[in-house]
Amino acid sequence: MRKIALLTSGGDAPGMNACIRAIVLTSLRYGLEVYGYRHGYNGLLEQEYLNLRSKNIQNIIQRGGTILNSARCLSFKSDDAPKMAAKNLDALGIEALLVIGGDGSFRGAKHLTEFWSGQVIGIPGTIDNDVNGTDATIGYYTAIETALDSIDKVRDTADAFERIFLIEVMGRHAGFIGLNAAIASAADHILLPEISRSCDHELENLVEHIEAVKKRRGNSSYIVVVTENLWPDGITNLAEMLTEKTQIDCRPVILGYIQRGGSPVSQDRVLATKLGAFAVEMALEGKSGVMVGEINQQLVCNDIQTSWQKNKALDPYLVKIQQDLFDILKRP
Ligand code: F6P
Repeated sequence: MRKIALLTSGGDAPGMNACIRAIVLTSLRYGLEVYGYRHGYNGLLEQEYLNLRSKNIQNIIQRGGTILNSARCLSFKSDDAPKMAAKNLDALGIEALLVIGGDGSFRGAKHLTEFWSGQVIGIPGTIDNDVNGTDATIGYYTAIETALDSIDKVRDTADAFERIFLIEVMGRHAGFIGLNAAIASAADHILLPEISRSCDHELENLVEHIEAVKKRRGNSSYIVVVTENLWPDGITNLAEMLTEKTQIDCRPVILGYIQRGGSPVSQDRVLATKLGAFAVEMALEGKSGVMVGEINQQLVCNDIQTSWQKNKALDPYLVKIQQDLFDILKRP
């Protein structure tokens, strides 16, 4: 193999730059030319690429975002786009393409393998951690830290006013960030897609818990962590309902995109470096249609489809502890 390429696709995640750095250095170490496509799959279609050398990756390990830019390329779902991408990759003489992204990006990667004879390898990078085949995705640990830092700050004002705060965290349809940030911030309640029941049930349960906690500890702050896309009309609507039902001021806070930004924490930098280097080595071994990951400290390489075909489960013990803690909080 002489030429390898990479791109970052979908929601950017802290640590993507660390991964790009590891890919470039490992490729150079094995004497490969390495190309970076810009703006995700759009770069493949528009022939927007650059030859990456060591100078391009100096001082990027600590930076959030991605130096290659990212995009969601909806046209890649059609057959025309991957066909065009295959033609462009061949024209440049690329033999292997590494895709750093989440499950949407991996579906695109799989689609490309139907039209391109080169090798395609996925590297999991998304703050949501909703990718099967790896314990953690690049960016996930930093997102938890960012959410945690914000929840701690909201707690200060919540305490001062003895208010209820609903804090919405990202995760798309997965509760990994929510569960971990809630445990680490000692949140009083969580609403996560994996364990929540009907809205009526959750509302009733929440009001009952708030009232029981108030009886036990008097007026105090009360923090609820909610995963995005869970409450049908959004958490502002839930905050209004809770204020009315409990007669305690309830405020919504949507953390949003700050969770995607910032300097990656060490765990994300190390994971990104390992997965980036390993992906290049797997390419050199001839692997294709796979995603690299790390499970129980072992680097693994599995069929890329397993990344989205099965839902990744939350740590059941962590869920149990969190639920036990809610129960203890409301006991007289
Ligand atoms: O996949 C990462 C993520 O930040 C999700 O948590 C969120 O639902 C989504 O991306 C937002 O996507 P967009 O940047 O397209 O608004």
